[in-house]
Amino acid sequence: MISQKMGNAINDQINAELFSEYLYLSMQAYFQRINLLGFANWMDVQVKEERAHGMGLFNHLIERGGKVELLAIDKPKTDWSSALEVFEAALEHEQFVTGRINSLVTVAEEEKDRASISFLDWYVKEQVEEEFNANSIIQSLKLIGPDANALLLLDKDLAARTFVAPVIA
Ligand code: FEO
Repeated sequence: MISQKMGNAINDQINAELFSEYLYLSMQAYFQRINLLGFANWMDVQVKEERAHGMGLFNHLIERGGKVELLAIDKPKTDWSSALEVFEAALEHEQFVTGRINSLVTVAEEEKDRASISFLDWYVKEQVEEEFNANSIIQSLKLIGPDANALLLLDKDLAARTFVAPVIA
């Protein structure tokens, strides 16, 4: 049976993952609005990944006899000035989530909850990938600068991203 403290911390992280889903959905809407549909596709995949992250925690809590408590989701930002600004915000958000995951591991250690420590290892590794993905698009956008043709080529690349449901275990 999971402790109350661990359960509360996981419920907070479910909320953070669902906020991430909401934030990326807002970014998707922005890209659809400015007609960068490959970028919008990239965000659509990200939205699905965040839902999967939230549901992984949701399922862990249920399996451990905890109580899932869904909290209010904050309103995400809706306007950015460029694709670069969007991805800088995405990276900043992922760095924030990494900090949250690390804190969650600390709670699991304090609670001597070995099952949660082992389970959260997947999220620790996933955050490395999340930061890497956002940062690599930032680097591409910086190289592209004001070149609209190059931006459209990157948009084509990002249109190829597909969602593969992660196996969280
Ligand atoms: Fe669920 Fe983007 O981390």
